[in-house]
Amino acid sequence: MFSTTKLRIVFFMFFFCSVFSVAHADQALANAKGCMACHQIDAEKVGPPFRMVAKKYQGQKDALAKLPSKVLDGGSGVWGEVAMPANKTLGVTKADATKLVAWVLSLK
Ligand code: HEC
Repeated sequence: MFSTTKLRIVFFMFFFCSVFSVAHADQALANAKGCMACHQIDAEKVGPPFRMVAKKYQGQKDALAKLPSKVLDGGSGVWGEVAMPANKTLGVTKADATKLVAWVLSLK
């Protein structure tokens, strides 16, 4: 039989592997959809760093409802004068946008 300690280790290994692979998959999606041409996780590029976006909307329950349409339709004025283009014309679907925003907001 496994000891409790061994079971805990196995549990945490599964936990970390699944968290890591989810985060990895969504960054791959951001790469595939061209987000990373303008965004970086920690540094400013054309748009705000994704970690800053996560910080700004931390605790705002409606962020996940509102931000996907901003990603789809584009816009400016929240972070500066530079506009984000309408990503829906670049092959980003609503499901992609929701997944990507959920990933961005999960960054700490
Ligand atoms: C051509 C450059 C460009 C691309 C490509 C781009 N963004 Fe942006 N993004 C920006 C800029 C510029 C802003 C700041 C807009 C503002 O100040 O309102 C921004 C803002 C954002 C915000 C914050 C919006 C807000 O109102 O606070 C999110 C979330 C975001 N982008 C996600 C994405 C995702 C996901 C993708 C890929 C599908 C993407 N961006 C692709 C330039 C880009």
